[in-house]
Amino acid sequence: MTELTTVTPPGVDRFPVRKPMPRAQFDALSREILVLKKLLNAVILAHNYQVPEIQDIADYVGDSLGLSQQAARTEADVIVFCGVHFMAETAKILSPNKIVVLPEKDAGCSLEEACPADKLAEFQKTNPNFYTVTYINCSAAVKALSDVICTSGNAVKIVNASPKDKELLFVPDENLGEWVMEQTGRRMTLWQGNCYAHVEFRRESLLRAKQAYPLAKVIAHPESLHEVRDLADAVCSTEKMISYCQASPSKQFVVVTESGIIHRLQKECPGKEFVCAPTFDAMRAPTDPCLCSECKYMKMNTLEKVRNCMKNLSPRIELPTDIIRRAQLPIQRMLEISARSV
Ligand code: 13P
Ligand code: SF4
Repeated sequence: MTELTTVTPPGVDRFPVRKPMPRAQFDALSREILVLKKLLNAVILAHNYQVPEIQDIADYVGDSLGLSQQAARTEADVIVFCGVHFMAETAKILSPNKIVVLPEKDAGCSLEEACPADKLAEFQKTNPNFYTVTYINCSAAVKALSDVICTSGNAVKIVNASPKDKELLFVPDENLGEWVMEQTGRRMTLWQGNCYAHVEFRRESLLRAKQAYPLAKVIAHPESLHEVRDLADAVCSTEKMISYCQASPSKQFVVVTESGIIHRLQKECPGKEFVCAPTFDAMRAPTDPCLCSECKYMKMNTLEKVRNCMKNLSPRIELPTDIIRRAQLPIQRMLEISARSV
């Protein structure tokens, strides 16, 4: 048997360091949540980056694509969306007659901030020939201005299915957009936005991790920089990271995305080892505890807040009917293309 780990340079072995919730507190809160869930006929959807205790009580844990598919087909009366604001908005657009609550109303996203609807509308006005392909990480108002939505899990398929006679505008993640251009060979105009958390991973920090774990496979999210994607064995959405690690004969993986996914990877791939890639800052000056591969927005949600939002049915997502109607079309188009076998 080969020895897996030899050297561990600073900043490489310090993730994840979040303390688990005490067992008694978890048990009490999850009992309360279960009672509320029955009372409300609620479904709890959680993104792969949520804290472990939220993932453990959720009915479904997945990536943006899987979560949208669940939100579109659920028969529950209440959707408790444990993720960030744009994801809960997407659930409301897909199920407008249901109550959608999210534990923390301020759980935003740097990509959503990078593309205000008025700026996009202005750009589209001066460039009327563009077909707008929009990453799901954006506001409902931006979705309403789009021709089609995509997630990291289906962006290549969506771009391949986009009209060949149109110029494409890809909004708002320039890194995902660049990766999709490489995969499809299709030229696109890229909106200048990025995920503040993923761009913290750099070539140098990843080289350190590779040096420390020479036998590990490196999996990276396409929101990462080009210099990082270039060093990865696989570039994929968070859900595809799970299937990649399950299928791979490899026993060790360096994971270049938000550290919340490690919990799910450990649950779904027993006997395999997962190491969070260090960010550039963590490599230079590791602190204890270091939480820098975390998305500050995703981590605003806690199990207590899940209980509270179910108890109060608030914060609740409310959207103008007109925005819902206009945003439905590009999301439905995405779901339809995504379901195609080729
Ligand atoms: P996934 O759809 O791959 O889970 O990505 C969501 C996200 O916000 C990544 O930062
Ligand atoms: Fe947005 Fe980045 Fe957080 Fe994902 S990880 S929700 S893209 S800020």
